[in-house]
Amino acid sequence: MKSPIPDYLQHVLDKARDNEAGAPAAYIDVLARADTSKLAVALAMVDGNLYSAGDDQVEFSIQSISKAFVYALAIEDAGLPRVLEKIGVEPSGDRFNQLSLERGTNRPMNPMINAGAITAHSLVVAPNATAEARTERILKSLSRLAGRQLHVDEEVYEAELKDADRNMGIGHMLKAAGIITCDPREAVKGYIRQCAINVNVKDLAMMSATLCNAGVHPFSGEQIIPHASVRQVLSVMTTCGMYDAAGDWVSNVGIPAKSGVAGGIIGTLPGQVGIAAFSPKLDERGNSVRGVAICEQLSRDMGLHMM
Ligand code: DON
Repeated sequence: MKSPIPDYLQHVLDKARDNEAGAPAAYIDVLARADTSKLAVALAMVDGNLYSAGDDQVEFSIQSISKAFVYALAIEDAGLPRVLEKIGVEPSGDRFNQLSLERGTNRPMNPMINAGAITAHSLVVAPNATAEARTERILKSLSRLAGRQLHVDEEVYEAELKDADRNMGIGHMLKAAGIITCDPREAVKGYIRQCAINVNVKDLAMMSATLCNAGVHPFSGEQIIPHASVRQVLSVMTTCGMYDAAGDWVSNVGIPAKSGVAGGIIGTLPGQVGIAAFSPKLDERGNSVRGVAICEQLSRDMGLHMM
């Protein structure tokens, strides 16, 4: 019997397509030229079923969605107490590319903003590790989560690196504040490389479903992320994953989530379903306009709100 779910997902996409608002990220020139008609959704259930519709084979760079998974790696490699010494867990209320250091501790406010993510990146493997070792660990882990070998989009990497003054500035401030101890240029380069890893919505749905499933990959049954890290990651995704839109998101959609500036979004409902949506046009807070609309619709129709 034909499953009704793909037809339903197609219907959700058709509705979201009517929303013409937003613009692709302007500050990374490859992303500014993205095909804004692209639209896709995928749902990965914790029982291992995967459903998708639209441009589900189209690849785009993971961007800030990587921050959730690299935070988990930092916790695994450096231990939660050390990570908490270096990165806070409070929403900044500011844009993702603000410095947002906490008064008193100098910690970046949380790991989902660029300052916190650059710090988390610097804690992967070990503080004195090479940039290559860190990137390799991150690529390997994200590939295991996706269930296939992922690759860095070199064009996106180069494009972001050539206009990286702002992130480089943040890296230098983190070093001056004693938060990162390695060469800040290497930390920022590695962070930009992690953001340039290409994925499609099916990859992201599977990565999200692993978080839903207490760190166990729903297909392979492998424990990829320790359970204690999943709890920490999902907590911070709930409060900080959608940046200064986090409050609106939690009240409207009610699912831990993370967005990326290439137009991807993941939603993660523990014990149930990992959602991924993609469309390149962003709102003023840096979240995909159609991606947000898709998640709102799914949450309403399927009763996914946590409350
Ligand atoms: O560092 C940056 O600005 C980008 N590589 C990532 C930002 C991002 O994805 C913000 N999300 N919406």
